[in-house]
Amino acid sequence: MKPFRIRELKSTDAEALLAFEIHNRAWFESQIDARDPAFYSWTGVTDHIESYLADFAEGAWHPFVIEDASGRIVGRANLKGIHSPLDCAEVGYRIDRRVCGQGLATLALKRLIQEARMRWGLTQLVAYVYESNLGSRKVLERCGFVPEARSDSEEAEGGCRFVLSI
Ligand SMILES: CC(C)(COP(=O)(O)OP(=O)(O)OC[C@H]1O[C@@H](n2cnc3c(N)ncnc32)[C@H](O)[C@@H]1OP(=O)(O)O)[C@@H](O)C(=O)NCCC(=O)NCCS
Repeated sequence: MKPFRIRELKSTDAEALLAFEIHNRAWFESQIDARDPAFYSWTGVTDHIESYLADFAEGAWHPFVIEDASGRIVGRANLKGIHSPLDCAEVGYRIDRRVCGQGLATLALKRLIQEARMRWGLTQLVAYVYESNLGSRKVLERCGFVPEARSDSEEAEGGCRFVLSI
């Protein structure tokens, strides 16, 4: 059996997703913007999944999770804002600290690129990353994304926009 697999988010993922997000909360908040504290509850996570799946049904969002051989969620990856603007979407991903450095974010991003191209017919993907997030920058560059010149506001916030033409 493969140690990890990527699959679409399901309505039955609430328990596993909540465990994943709570366990990694401090780790994620050290590198990306914090979620609303209300997210970290059964209601918060079930509402979150419901909203992601509704957006998926509308063709605006494509949510994935990565699970290990035991069915534990160890990562997430999303295509966000599909087709807005036209033929474009944003990518996002987060990996359980315990399994970082094994290529999972790279694997997930490659899957997002494939879905963007084959399923959604997109021609451009974008990602927003903090300058200090060296791991994520490496993942993006490895998958062909290039950093854009930063606007004054992005520079002030320490952020950077990466773009991939597909
Ligand atoms: C960024 C993140 C997604 C990377 O996940 P991952 O599964 O470890 O990524 P990969 O293993 O595919 O690749 C990471 C690469 O960056 C390198 N790396 C990680 N941290 C690094 C650092 N501080 N400095 C330099 N390189 C670093 C790793 O060594 C690896 O390179 P290698 O394969 O050549 O050894 C993960 O750390 C994470 O979830 N962080 C919190 C959420 C987040 O930042 N999401 C991205 C928002 S844009």
